[in-house]
Amino acid sequence: MAVVAGGAGLIGTALCEGLADHGATVVVADAAVERGEALADELGERAEFCRVDITDEDSVVGLVETVLDRHGRIDAFVNCSYPRNENYGRRYEDVTAADFRENVELHLDSYFVAARAVSRAMMDQPDGGSIVNFGSTYGVQAPDFSVYEGTEMTSPVEYSAIKGGILNLTRYMASYLGEHGVRVNAVSPGGVFDDQHPEFVDRYEDRTPLGRMATPEDFEGAVVYLASDASRYVTGHNLVVDGGWTIC
Ligand SMILES: NC(=O)c1ccc[n+]([C@@H]2O[C@H](COP(=O)([O-])OP(=O)(O)OC[C@H]3O[C@@H](n4cnc5c(N)ncnc54)[C@H](O)[C@@H]3O)[C@@H](O)[C@H]2O)c1
Repeated sequence: MAVVAGGAGLIGTALCEGLADHGATVVVADAAVERGEALADELGERAEFCRVDITDEDSVVGLVETVLDRHGRIDAFVNCSYPRNENYGRRYEDVTAADFRENVELHLDSYFVAARAVSRAMMDQPDGGSIVNFGSTYGVQAPDFSVYEGTEMTSPVEYSAIKGGILNLTRYMASYLGEHGVRVNAVSPGGVFDDQHPEFVDRYEDRTPLGRMATPEDFEGAVVYLASDASRYVTGHNLVVDGGWTIC
């Protein structure tokens, strides 16, 4: 039984499919009802959709209660949601303090609230559970702004603060929850190809040892590993899946 928050997104869709292919019953948890229901339909008996607003604690607690009512337990919780406000994506010079705060609250705070709500349920389970938070290479190292040159693209300043925060939140929770058998790990993806500006794609690929951007399916193995007993002695880890970007 695995719950995937943000399960109807670009990466989340592949993760739900990968977890279902590896035998999990999957709850696709997302604010996007149409996409979430379509994915659950496609996965058939292996999945169901649950609407959640990850930024609303009552909604998250409701999700946990619904899953426990229906399935009696949560073995794995994967958070790959990506909440952001309407001004998200602006250049460094144009980010207001209010936008910075709001995006940190929407994204970092919600990862904390969701992981805590789920861990409360997992602490009551005799064999604990596994939480996987999505970080980013940009939570590990600074952006290389040269890859954005000549395009309208950038990496938002909030993103680095948020993802760095999520990685250390993951370590904190792993340390705190270890005695309860609850493991907390992170996956940090590199950039996923999503029809970005061709110049950006070329530069990104040139800078990446494996010579290409990621596909959403590239993260399935990491998540299946961390969500399952195959990683039973692994906690507080950040599994970087980036084609080698961060070693250069
Ligand atoms: N795509 C990349 O290149 C990339 C790279 C590194 C890290 N990441 C991280 O991976 C994760 C997934 O990214 P993605 O590219 O799949 O994003 P995405 O935008 O395609 O998907 C995110 C999902 O989160 C859902 N969501 C947004 N706000 C929500 C809310 N308030 N409540 C519930 N669901 C909500 C959306 O509906 C969407 O289905 C994010 O944490 C992102 O930061 C992505």
